[in-house]
Amino acid sequence: MVKVAVLGAAGGIGQPLSLLVKSNPLVTELALYDIVNTPGVAADLSHISTPAKVTGYKGDTELAAALAGADIVVIPAGVPRKPGMTRDDLFKINAGIVQTLANSAAKNCPKAFIAVISNPVNSTVPIVAEVFKKHGVFDPKRIFGVTTLDITRANTFVGQLGKGEIKDKSVTVIGGHSGVTIIPILSAEEIDALTHRIQYGGDEVVKAKDGAGSATLSMAYAGAQFVNALLDAVVLKKSGITQCTYVKSDVAAAEGVEYFSTVVELGPEGVAKIHPIPPLNEHEKKLYLAAIPELKANIEKGVAFVTSQS
Ligand code: NAD
Ligand code: LMR
Repeated sequence: MVKVAVLGAAGGIGQPLSLLVKSNPLVTELALYDIVNTPGVAADLSHISTPAKVTGYKGDTELAAALAGADIVVIPAGVPRKPGMTRDDLFKINAGIVQTLANSAAKNCPKAFIAVISNPVNSTVPIVAEVFKKHGVFDPKRIFGVTTLDITRANTFVGQLGKGEIKDKSVTVIGGHSGVTIIPILSAEEIDALTHRIQYGGDEVVKAKDGAGSATLSMAYAGAQFVNALLDAVVLKKSGITQCTYVKSDVAAAEGVEYFSTVVELGPEGVAKIHPIPPLNEHEKKLYLAAIPELKANIEKGVAFVTSQS
């Protein structure tokens, strides 16, 4: 029996992501939570002929029931960017939303794997971790920031350069999930063409949507890839499942950075092995050093948001 809860399930990401999760036959229960519209989304998805039983939960009073006994909790709840905004500008609204959801998850499904999509990911992951610490249920192997869209984009853009099939690309992207904190590991000829595009791919979509939000469909695709990888590792106990994901990690401890994305091997208990930062060339070393101050500030901001409250 595998229960997946999607929090923010009626949103731009939430709906297509829930559709893709519903398509995975390993899922037996799909709980859709949002502050609006979940009854309709749940009724719609419930007619799809895959095993998952779909239930909608709407509003604060139904959050605990949505989370009770969940094995995986995916969180795309919160506001998206508009042109001219940074992801950090979303902190004011999304930090509180994520904290509330994490509080309930810590109470109702303390052993669940938590996949955080809500921005700013660099800060919202530490927020979830601090909330779990407050409840005495923190397990760093079970809390993930979903940075998969950066890899999806990198694979697409590298593929479009024309050497080999897009489907065979597997670019490593390390660091965090915002501008300079996104560090793609590219071949020499890809660096100039693609570094900036991968770091600022999110802005391309925000600009094109012209006030109507940020990436939703590509994020749903990427988010489902991450959830499916987790299901393969946790439920099917497949070995060798890896994802780049933003987790509590020692890889950048020398710089005083507590959370960092590198290749992570997933296993039945979540994080099985955190791969080190790969050898960096001179260009990548510069990107790494440029990422550190922003990443550190984002993490400190997330931690302080929770720890400063009594
Ligand atoms: P959206 O506005 O379309 O949907 C957000 C949903 O969250 C809405 O349905 C809203 O009702 C719901 N919501 C708001 N407050 C809530 C609460 N307290 N509890 C539960 N649900 C609540 O936005 P979107 O485009 O789906 O984006 C959602 C978030 O994902 C944004 O913060 C965005 O920046 C982020 N995002 C992250 C990545 C990534 O790579 N990690 C990619 C794209 C977007
Ligand atoms: C993305 O990378 O597309 C998301 O983080 C959304 C955004 O704000 O750019």
